[in-house]
Amino acid sequence: MTRTARVILLGALAALGSAAPAQAQPQSGIVRPTQEPSAPSLELGSQLFAGNCASCHGIGGAGIQAPRPGAGETLGAGPPLRGVGALSADFYLRTGYMPLGSIHSQPERERVLFSQKEIGSLVSYVASLGAGPAIPRPQPSQGSLGDGLTLFTEHCSGCHQVVAQGGFLTGARVPALQDATPTEIAEAVRIGPYLMPHFPVSQINDRQLNSIVAYVLSTRHPDDHGGWGIGNLGPFPEGIITWLIAIIALVGVCVVLGERLRS
Ligand code: HEC
Ligand code: HEC
Repeated sequence: MTRTARVILLGALAALGSAAPAQAQPQSGIVRPTQEPSAPSLELGSQLFAGNCASCHGIGGAGIQAPRPGAGETLGAGPPLRGVGALSADFYLRTGYMPLGSIHSQPERERVLFSQKEIGSLVSYVASLGAGPAIPRPQPSQGSLGDGLTLFTEHCSGCHQVVAQGGFLTGARVPALQDATPTEIAEAVRIGPYLMPHFPVSQINDRQLNSIVAYVLSTRHPDDHGGWGIGNLGPFPEGIITWLIAIIALVGVCVVLGERLRS
């Protein structure tokens, strides 16, 4: 290995090493009461809410419409939470979508900074703000994969792709569904987070939801008929790979022909 190559390699390794701890840092701290009770409680939920959520969702979850400066000059605004129920609070907290870092960003799956006890307390606090739906308990084993594929193709694949790898919409990133638990999938369908539409029971009933969940889980172990799946991303990467192979083959043919003509 030449000296320059060694320097480049060492530089790349150092950059990799420093990137890992930077990512492991929490994005924002969580405000906690000094003395936390040992069990989940409504009181703990209301304290955590006041410290971490009220700057955007308002006192008692009344919502803040026009963005206004909160602590540290960060802008606060968010929808009212009265009536969203345990279902929505559970989804947004377990995925790490909340607390949101900035009102201008799309909620995304992040490292969860609250403990189980804290999530339980916040969920019961948000549920206590107004009557709303409970946390769903989907039973994917009672669903049918065939129905799931049909329903997913009809309602979800336009955005999430048929193998649930996600993609892009104007103004939003559509996540892959590989990390969502069965409960989170059922919750997302009922809520419709961000630009996703929501699907009430009149549109997708609980039995159909079981089939959708079963189908999404099945996409994690795709069956690659016909050989190499190439990440199961569909025709685009398949086309690129075909071109790469074709280019190498064509250049090879040209070289051979050129040599023959010369001799
Ligand atoms: C920086 C502002 C901000 C902070 C802090 C914040 N939120 Fe949010 N929250 C939002 C915005 C904006 C939305 C709407 C996101 C969307 O459209 O998906 C939202 C959506 C939600 C929803 C979904 C509401 C619905 O209609 O179903 C819940 C539940 C929620 N937040 C809970 C919380 C909790 C609990 C906390 C504290 C741990 C918190 N949020 C902290 C801004 C914030
Ligand atoms: C119009 C496009 C669109 C359609 C249709 C759609 N989704 Fe989504 N979905 C999204 C977007 C955008 C998000 C990200 C939401 C956010 O960041 O707050 C999302 C998030 C999710 C999540 C959370 C994933 C995670 O790990 O963060 C699940 C689960 C989900 N969708 C399932 C479904 C299912 C099941 C269907 C069909 C019944 C469906 N979606 C239909 C756009 C869509």
